[in-house]
Amino acid sequence: MTAQELVNKAVEATRGSYSPYSGFTVGAALLCEDGEVFTAANVENASYSATMCGERNALFYAAAQGKRKFTAVAIVGGHGGKIEDFCPPCGVCRQAYSEFCSPDFKIYLYNGREIREYTLGQLLPESFDLIK
Ligand code: THU
Repeated sequence: MTAQELVNKAVEATRGSYSPYSGFTVGAALLCEDGEVFTAANVENASYSATMCGERNALFYAAAQGKRKFTAVAIVGGHGGKIEDFCPPCGVCRQAYSEFCSPDFKIYLYNGREIREYTLGQLLPESFDLIK
């Protein structure tokens, strides 16, 4: 699975976005160590704090199926479904990913033209944990 293939799946996943409040659609494609890919989108709520980010939906969806080892995630997002800028994961999502993913876990961002590759360690240095 190339970075571009994973990004393409994230772009496709934005179609599931439920974002009537912000109009900002997010899609994520999470690659498990066994090769399976889980995709998801952001799902908003009239009580705004009940909203769930696309990349966290993908992680929790996979984790709830028993997946525990992950290699990479591609995240895309934009206003009105247009992917024009990079959509870095929010702080809460970075923390959620750190529960399951090591510092070398890859995060691919895409602005419609180029892919940027980061590691979780770069985006969340000195992460908090209790059990590692
Ligand atoms: N959103 C995500 O899905 N991921 C992020 O990392 C940041 C924000 C969503 C939440 C909300 O539906 C919309 O983008 C605007 O904040």
